[in-house]
Amino acid sequence: MKERLVALRDDALKELGAAGDPGVLNELRVKYLGKKGLLTEILRGMGSLSAEERPVIGQVANDVRAAIEAVIDEKSAEFARAETARRLATETIDVTLPGRPAPNGALHPLTKIVQEIEDIFIGMGFAVAEGPEVETDYYNFEAMNLPKGHPARDMQDSFYITDDILLRTHTSPVQARSMEARKGETPLKIICPGKVYRRDDDDPTHSHQFMQIEGLVVDKGIRISDLKGTLLQFAREMFGPNVQIRLRPSFFPFTEPSAEVDVSCVICGGKGCRVCKHSGWLEILGSGMVHPRVLSMSGYDPEKVSGFAFGMGVERIAMLRYGIEDIRHFYTNDVRFLRQFART
Ligand code: DAH
Repeated sequence: MKERLVALRDDALKELGAAGDPGVLNELRVKYLGKKGLLTEILRGMGSLSAEERPVIGQVANDVRAAIEAVIDEKSAEFARAETARRLATETIDVTLPGRPAPNGALHPLTKIVQEIEDIFIGMGFAVAEGPEVETDYYNFEAMNLPKGHPARDMQDSFYITDDILLRTHTSPVQARSMEARKGETPLKIICPGKVYRRDDDDPTHSHQFMQIEGLVVDKGIRISDLKGTLLQFAREMFGPNVQIRLRPSFFPFTEPSAEVDVSCVICGGKGCRVCKHSGWLEILGSGMVHPRVLSMSGYDPEKVSGFAFGMGVERIAMLRYGIEDIRHFYTNDVRFLRQFART
């Protein structure tokens, strides 16, 4: 039995010596040391050995196994080293290849304009308020002194959800909401930016969804000169230190008196050009002194306090500021358009 074991070892070492790849190595491991391998087969005969022979043969068998395993380990380490060397030689990385660009996003031009307008008003002591885009008829119209059946409701064709709920047609309802929340306290100085919706057909100057910024100041002794001074300061910070403003009489149900506010043309400086239709002036917002009924409906006493309010279209301001000729550019999200604002 001892001879068979020694012969087995010699055969194994010879075959292992010739093994050229890890696959063959593994086959040989199975052939010699596997559960059904040749070594196991020989050892099955141990039962017929005498008690003295058994430990001696057992020792020989262990030595044979150890010798074969040692060679297998050595060979597989050798194969692994060769594989690493091969990969190092063949797999090269070109470190001079330029990286893939990761484009930076940018703020939408309307977001930028809103932030700029907010900063200007915050600088004058205003707080920024918000209100819901899905609004009740009460806040959107009623509390703005536009009772049901009022003809001025037609100025703002609406998207109704139910008889009583609609997409707000302007940011003015935030006036009523802010006044209610402050419960008669003064001073109240807020602006409210947000989206509004109207049943308009989209064209270069109309969009069924657009943005407004509402402004409201309520305090003791607020006068129309406060309105004018505030809006002049805004216009100059927005469009440049030399612009002028003018107030033109107008009508809004929620203000009395009401005024449309124009700035001197930011393109021609007031001389007259195509953009201002040769008038020298550009209309930028609606405004007025808060109607006493609007104050009292929302919990303020018009005998004790007064206020002014204004509402402007954000797209209109952005179009003048950036020289954009079609409002639809803001909403079609052509990256060639948006990219131009990435670094301004
Ligand atoms: N809500 C008006 C509109 O959408 C704009 C407006 C005009 C707001 C006068 C006001 C204001 O606060 O006083 O056309």
